[in-house]
Amino acid sequence: MNRVLAAVLISGGGSNMDALLGAAADPDYPADIRLVISNRPEAGGLAKARSRGIEAVAIDHRPFGANREAFEAALQELLAARGIGFIALAGFMRILTPGFVGLWRGRMINIHPSLLPRFKGLDTHARALAAGAKEHGCTVHWVTPELDGGAIIAQARVPVMPDDDARTLAARVLAEENSLYPMALAGAVRSLAAAAP
Ligand code: GRF
Repeated sequence: MNRVLAAVLISGGGSNMDALLGAAADPDYPADIRLVISNRPEAGGLAKARSRGIEAVAIDHRPFGANREAFEAALQELLAARGIGFIALAGFMRILTPGFVGLWRGRMINIHPSLLPRFKGLDTHARALAAGAKEHGCTVHWVTPELDGGAIIAQARVPVMPDDDARTLAARVLAEENSLYPMALAGAVRSLAAAAP
């Protein structure tokens, strides 16, 4: 099977990235994850990727200042140099410009810790608790210029417990994220192959 070459973009601990790398270690998995990029050199996920023998590169966004395009040009240069054909955002905390999103339209997905379209943006667990939500969860979706707005690929639901705080709820959701993302990435990549002319 010709597997699509994929990259995972992270900013932090990389638990979702690690779950994806674990799944992609199976030669029958439809994505061959060859590269991890973090915008933060201190991201713990970089070491996790390297311990699995996967190239992990930090492209620090800070030297680029407000010039998002220049930061994304550096991302794009590395992605192109490695022949990457699909991107999975996994705890990647930079807003991407419409230009970059357009370049990767239909080839880039993200995982968000809420049941979209509810609670787009940040602090989703605290907001779900504040809203009195009885159910919460996570969503894998296609990335479009609208933040957390693309078509939904898959979702996982968790109950909100009466004694939950943002930390306990986040932990319950993260466990679901880690199991949902590998299946969702496989489905997204297979949908591409199916749609190929
Ligand atoms: C997760 O809640 C993810 O949904 C969000 O960042 C958190 C940490 O993800 N985007 P990870 O452990 O770095 O994959």
